[in-house]
Amino acid sequence: MSPQQTAVPDVHVPWWRRGTIYQVYPRSFADANGDGTGDVEGIRSKLPYLSDLGVDGIWISPWYPSPLADGGYDVADYRDINPMFGTLADAERLLDEAHELGIKVIVDLVPNHTSREHRWFEAALAAGPGSAERAMYMFRPGRGDDGELPPNNWRSVFGGPAWTRVDDGEWYLHLFDSSQPDLDWTNERVREEFDAIFRFWLDRGVDGFRIDVAHGMVKDPALPDLDGEQELLGTNFAVNHPHWDRDGVHEINRRWRAVLDEVDRDVMMVAEAWVVPEHLGLYLRPDEYHQSFNFDFLTADWGRDEARDAIVRALDAAQTVGSTPTWTLSNHDVMRHATRYGLPKGTDWRAWPLAGPADALDPVAGLRRAKAMTMLLMALPGSLYVYQGEELGLPDVWDLPTDVLDDPVWEDSGHTQKGRDGCRVPMPWTPDGTSYGFGSNGAWLPQPTVYGELAAAAQSGVDGSTLELYRAGLDLRKRYFEADEQLTWLDLGPDVLAFRRGTGAVCALNYGSDPVALPAGGLLLGSEPGMTAIEPETCVWVDPDLRPSLADRRRQREMRRPGSQR
Ligand code: GLC
Repeated sequence: MSPQQTAVPDVHVPWWRRGTIYQVYPRSFADANGDGTGDVEGIRSKLPYLSDLGVDGIWISPWYPSPLADGGYDVADYRDINPMFGTLADAERLLDEAHELGIKVIVDLVPNHTSREHRWFEAALAAGPGSAERAMYMFRPGRGDDGELPPNNWRSVFGGPAWTRVDDGEWYLHLFDSSQPDLDWTNERVREEFDAIFRFWLDRGVDGFRIDVAHGMVKDPALPDLDGEQELLGTNFAVNHPHWDRDGVHEINRRWRAVLDEVDRDVMMVAEAWVVPEHLGLYLRPDEYHQSFNFDFLTADWGRDEARDAIVRALDAAQTVGSTPTWTLSNHDVMRHATRYGLPKGTDWRAWPLAGPADALDPVAGLRRAKAMTMLLMALPGSLYVYQGEELGLPDVWDLPTDVLDDPVWEDSGHTQKGRDGCRVPMPWTPDGTSYGFGSNGAWLPQPTVYGELAAAAQSGVDGSTLELYRAGLDLRKRYFEADEQLTWLDLGPDVLAFRRGTGAVCALNYGSDPVALPAGGLLLGSEPGMTAIEPETCVWVDPDLRPSLADRRRQREMRRPGSQR
């Protein structure tokens, strides 16, 4: 079948369903005013870069006023822009210019908790026990004779107790840092405020929302003690957990969806829901989320069966509800995948930066595997989320000195985990300068020298660079992998994960240690330059209807010649 014969659906396909969305972490993307911190003008200045890269949309991590105790996920006002990042007018200009370039914009909403500096929380503290202001949050009396013990044994995701006591003796719940008090979602006023917040950003033209901790808002009213510790960034917690993934969240999802449906545009919401794969589909019912992140894949080890199993689970979960999966390998909460894949299988990459051994890391293998996995993801049906800097092959800066760490995880875990700063180190745009072109005056976290070598300007136009691989990949993806949602598994031997898409194009990743012959046809792209076979730990895309180029055929002949090295 030639690419032209592909079944192009006659129904309208919304942009997010098969598109590529690029995550911008505003603090670390680009600093236009030279204060060492990224800003909205910085993002605006890089829109042409994002357009050249070939993304369909950007997701901007929280840019609201915030004390940045948790990098902005501690929101002090949902209807404004952090003065460190700019103004609402800057944001509106960014939205307009992005739209002119055909780039959609998704903002990040944090409904589970606010900052302690939000005026609702300040009012709750001032008004005292039993007040309507306090009822916006989860305040409770303590246990013990004088209420000196927390209301239950819940732990914060970042470490330490999930309750903090205030001066008048009551305790408030915070599933995250003590600076992030949880809202009480049984309170209609909380619900109404969020309806209005959605409408505020929809009125400004945003195209979607990424919903933070979408599985956390509803708590068991009895607030029972928990057996054992609970992790956020994992999906292996028990069913009927007292604060994760409770049935009540679906009613809230439906309410938000109704607000989005008031708008006559293709707007969407995507859930950050760390739930068991079998439950993901519930969030994707037609009157709930449009999409949900798929962390099953992100947490899977490097390996053929691991990847295949995660893909099958995600396709099945999405298909049962008529949605498409989302694919992602990195974000602002996890070790960058160029480093993660350089660690031996089974390594706990959250603990490894402190636990070591440091020489377990093979950065060359890490980047090679990262590029191969990225090509695999780009070829799958559904949408792709790319985290800023992965297109440069940036490694995680896991060895930041502890005195610069900013993530609350470092303190809250009692210095047992370094936290997530390693993936938040500011972007390098040029090979030199005080912060490799991030801004004119240093960067809020130190960048390693390798960031200069990997800067966007150093890779742009350079054959074989990671940046050019992403550009070519996203371009070909539009032609070969976004036309439909079909996938057929192929058998190319025990080490290769391979499938054919509806256009006929084949994607094959070799997890083994021996080269495997290319499938018949013309090579569209290889994860390493000059490939004539599916080399170990590489990925290829092949169009069976294309004749191999002269150069390819010459290289293949050379390979077959007696005495050839391969
Ligand atoms: C989400 C965010 C993370 C944040 C947490 C609390 O998991 O991605 O960065 O710390 O929620 O808001």
